[in-house]
Order: sequence, then C-alpha cells, then structure tokens
Amino acid sequence: MSIEKIGVLGCGLMGAGIAQVCAQAGLPTIVREIDQKFIDNGFGIIEKNVQKAVDKGKISQQDKGAMWDKLKGTLELEDLKECDLIIEAVIENLELKNEMFSKLDKMCPEKTILASNTSSLTVMAMAASTNRPDRFCGLHFFNPVPVMQLVEVVNTIATSRETTETCVDFCKKIGKKAILAKDKSGFIVNRLLIPYLLDAIKVFEEGLASAEDIDTGMKLGLNYPMGPLTLLDFVGLDTTYNIANIMFEEFREQRFAPPPLLKKMVLAGYYGRKSGKGFYDYSGDKPVPTDLGM
Ligand code: 3HC
Repeated sequence: MSIEKIGVLGCGLMGAGIAQVCAQAGLPTIVREIDQKFIDNGFGIIEKNVQKAVDKGKISQQDKGAMWDKLKGTLELEDLKECDLIIEAVIENLELKNEMFSKLDKMCPEKTILASNTSSLTVMAMAASTNRPDRFCGLHFFNPVPVMQLVEVVNTIATSRETTETCVDFCKKIGKKAILAKDKSGFIVNRLLIPYLLDAIKVFEEGLASAEDIDTGMKLGLNYPMGPLTLLDFVGLDTTYNIANIMFEEFREQRFAPPPLLKKMVLAGYYGRKSGKGFYDYSGDKPVPTDLGM
C-alpha cells in the first residue's frame, strides 16, 4: 500500500515538524489540534523554518508555496478520516492518546495505518485501544524533525509485515532513514540516550565539573553536536523527566531513575530552552550557566 495522505495529531514542536516534512515531500497533510491557537503557533514555527531555507537559497519561494498548498489545520478529528496514515504527536498521556485512537479507529477505513510518535510508552498499550493492532506501529521522530534524518519504526507483537514495510517506504518518501525497533520502552535511541543524559546530571550534581566543562568535554572529546546538559535543555527537562520515569517504571533499573536535581529543576519550572532556563539561562544574547546553588 502506498501512503498518499497524512494526518497528524498535535501541532507542537514534533507535530509541526512531522507535518512540515510530509507537506514538503508533496503529501497532502492535515494537522488536528484542540484549539486554533496551537495550530497558529505550530504553523508559525513551520513558516519560520521554511522562510529561513528560502533566505539561504536552499528552497525556492515556489517550493514554499507548494508546501503550504499541501498543509491544512483542523480542529475536527473527523477531518482525518480519509488519511492513509495518521501520526499521533500529542503529550505522553496514554488515556488521551487512546481516546483519540479509539475514535479514529471507528471512523477510518480499513486501510488506514495508525501510528504514535511516543518516545517511551509501550506502543501495544495504544494499539490495544483499537481494532486494528496489525495496522498500528510506532514512528519515532527526532527533534528538530526537519533536520534529524532518523525515524524509528516500532513493531509491536501484532504489527503486520505489510504495515512495517509501508511505513519504511513512507519514511523514505519524506527523506528520512528508517530503522526497525521492537516495542520496548525507549526503543533504540532513548534506551541508550536517557541513561547518558541522566548520568550527565548525576556527575554535575556530584560536583565533578562545571556544566560548561561537561558539555565541552562531550562536544569536543566525542564530536557530539551538543553536550549532554545543552541537549537536556534542548529536549526539555520536563520531557526527559517524564521519559525517565516511564522507563524506570518499565525496567526498574537504577540507570533510568531521574536524579533528584532533575526533579527539583522541573519543580522549579526550569524546563530548558522552552521556559528560558534550564542548565543554562537563555534570557540574554547567549546562554550562560544557571546558578543552581551547587
Ligand atoms: N528547526 C528546524 N531547523 C533547524 C532547527 C530547528 N529547531 N535548528 C537548527 N536548524 C537547522 C538550521 O536552519 C541549519 O540548517 P542549514 O544547514 O540548512 O543551514 C541546520 O539546522 C544547522 O543549524 P545551526 O547552524 O543553526 O546550528 P547547529 O549546527 O548547532 O545545529 C542542531 C543545530 C541541528 C540542533 C544540532 O546542534 C544538533 O544536531 N543537535 C543535537 C540534536 C539532537 O540530538 N536531537 C535529538 C534529541 S532526542 C529526541 O528528539 C528524541 C526524543 O524522544 C527525546
């Protein structure tokens, strides 16, 4: 089966990025949100991204126009019912996700594949809320979606081979590299990334080195694009805390347990870049380490 029409649930950073790459690949894409202000905000992010690409001469004004012709926003779940593939990218709340999946399952034709961009929940726990677990999988994108090449295609024990193959083809169509992962919390990338990020917080907390030196160490010592504390601010400390809790709950292994400092920073509203403060303070011209009283 070929995927021609895409539905996206959620127009936050991830949903907007997914919608952008689909529309840029020429696929009619419709994004559903619960309030027009979220669509306006997400579409504002897309406009900024594509205008930057136009200014740099990477795409033409015509390409930008063609992308917007393919992209629509809606407040109605029902408007997604003609889609071949619907990718959910809302907050990590299983009940909320399942409520939407269950409704879509009833209104969509048999061919429609449902997918979740979850970063840590078990995909089968969502597939089970539908009558199409064979046409249900995980499609885990990375932030920033327009830049990051990878998508993890996550197979549950019930995902059909055809669904997997169709989704791998879809990833190719939108210019992404697909890798296959089993349905275990964190899949491949977060299974390895989260303990690394948590370890960086632990060594900072124990006073091994300053935030800047920890970041510089991993950036220059290993050629990583960002040091771990900068990456934590980029991903969001609240998001990481949530993922770590889900993974700790799943595996009961110490390495997934969120360190006390992470919890305190989330409690203080230090979510990273999105709140203006995390391990670094983003209120000035350039980020400076936050005084965490360490
Ligand atoms: N959205 C879209 N495009 C962006 C962007 C954004 N938020 N940020 C940067 N870009 C683009 C720039 O426009 C530029 O494009 P160009 O090459 O066409 O000119 C290109 O990316 C490079 O950007 P910059 O020169 O401004 O900055 P850097 O070279 O420092 O790159 C970065 C920025 C791509 C974010 C790089 O630092 C990076 O790769 N960081 C690591 C990101 C990462 O690890 N992401 C995964 C997070 S984990 C995850 O998502 C999983 C989840 O489940 C937790």
